[in-house]
Amino acid sequence: MLPTIEMQADAVVMIDQRKLPAQEIYVHCKTANEVARAIKTMVIRGAPAIGVAAAMGIALGMRRSKVSGTKQFAIDFTRLCEVMAETRPTAVNLFWAIERMKRTFSSAVLSGQSVEELKVRLDVEAQAIHDEDLASCQAMGQWGAEIVPEHARILTHCNAGALATAGYGTALGVIRAAAAQGKVQKVFADETRPFMQGARLTAWELVRDHIPTTVITDSMAGPLMRDGQIDLVVVGADRIAANGDFANKIGTYTVATMAKAHGVPFYVAAPLSTIDMKTPNGQSIPIEQRSAREVTHLGAIQLTPDGASVWNPSFDVTPHALVTGIITERGILRAPYHDSLRALFAE
Ligand code: MRU
Repeated sequence: MLPTIEMQADAVVMIDQRKLPAQEIYVHCKTANEVARAIKTMVIRGAPAIGVAAAMGIALGMRRSKVSGTKQFAIDFTRLCEVMAETRPTAVNLFWAIERMKRTFSSAVLSGQSVEELKVRLDVEAQAIHDEDLASCQAMGQWGAEIVPEHARILTHCNAGALATAGYGTALGVIRAAAAQGKVQKVFADETRPFMQGARLTAWELVRDHIPTTVITDSMAGPLMRDGQIDLVVVGADRIAANGDFANKIGTYTVATMAKAHGVPFYVAAPLSTIDMKTPNGQSIPIEQRSAREVTHLGAIQLTPDGASVWNPSFDVTPHALVTGIITERGILRAPYHDSLRALFAE
């Protein structure tokens, strides 16, 4: 299993995803601010992994606090939660994890726990968020493998793998589980401009797992579908709205539209922590704009002339009408998503 992120005694340690696949370097974040910076600068990325990192960052920050009174400790805790919430706006897992840490904190304070006890409680909760995400991915994989046909040629976009989660992955979890059942002939990984999560990270994970992998540029998926070379698409999500619309890496909408046009089943794999029942539809999902440099440059190489402006939304929204099914750790949801999502949360 890939070590995406780990909480150690004096640091939150994560593999530097900006450096992969050329270098496998681990970053030791010794403060909560360093964790926040790591999320912002994409040392760690992917919706569930961002949530885990934020929880661990909060736990680390509070563990290192020298404050002895509960009142000041609570003020510092609230401030840290705010710092984490400002890192990236689209992946709801971030806000879900922060809310969970807040609930844990409040109930521990209400039961009269000391500062030292609160520190332990936050550590335990952050680790639980990590462990539960891993278990969710594995469960999702088992459900998702059921819809993968024999000899499947699967397309995925971005990286929804072990690196984007506590381990195993959402979309790549489905692919891993299906591959373990001998069902996967080949995976097509969209390179995923501009940050290249598909070419760099998805391909790296799949090659390590000996799953046959072909990297394509994003514009090649359409002709492959037209030529009958793709049996199934499975992607992750950063936020699923209450009606089933979802945000994922820029380019997902194009893939979903192509899949619909060519009759290719299009699945989204995501844990419940990615589902935001408070967001009614895709139009209400905040979309992060990232720096122009991600588009104008590839590493140190400038690709565009000085003076050209850039539009760089990190995500797009795919309408629910293009989604064949949503694979969760509790099973596969089908349309109408407004009803199936509501039923899932009513359970
Ligand atoms: O900008 P990123 O790399 O954080 O975007 C990641 C994605 O869009 C993933 O597909 C999504 O978070 C699902 S990860 C299981």
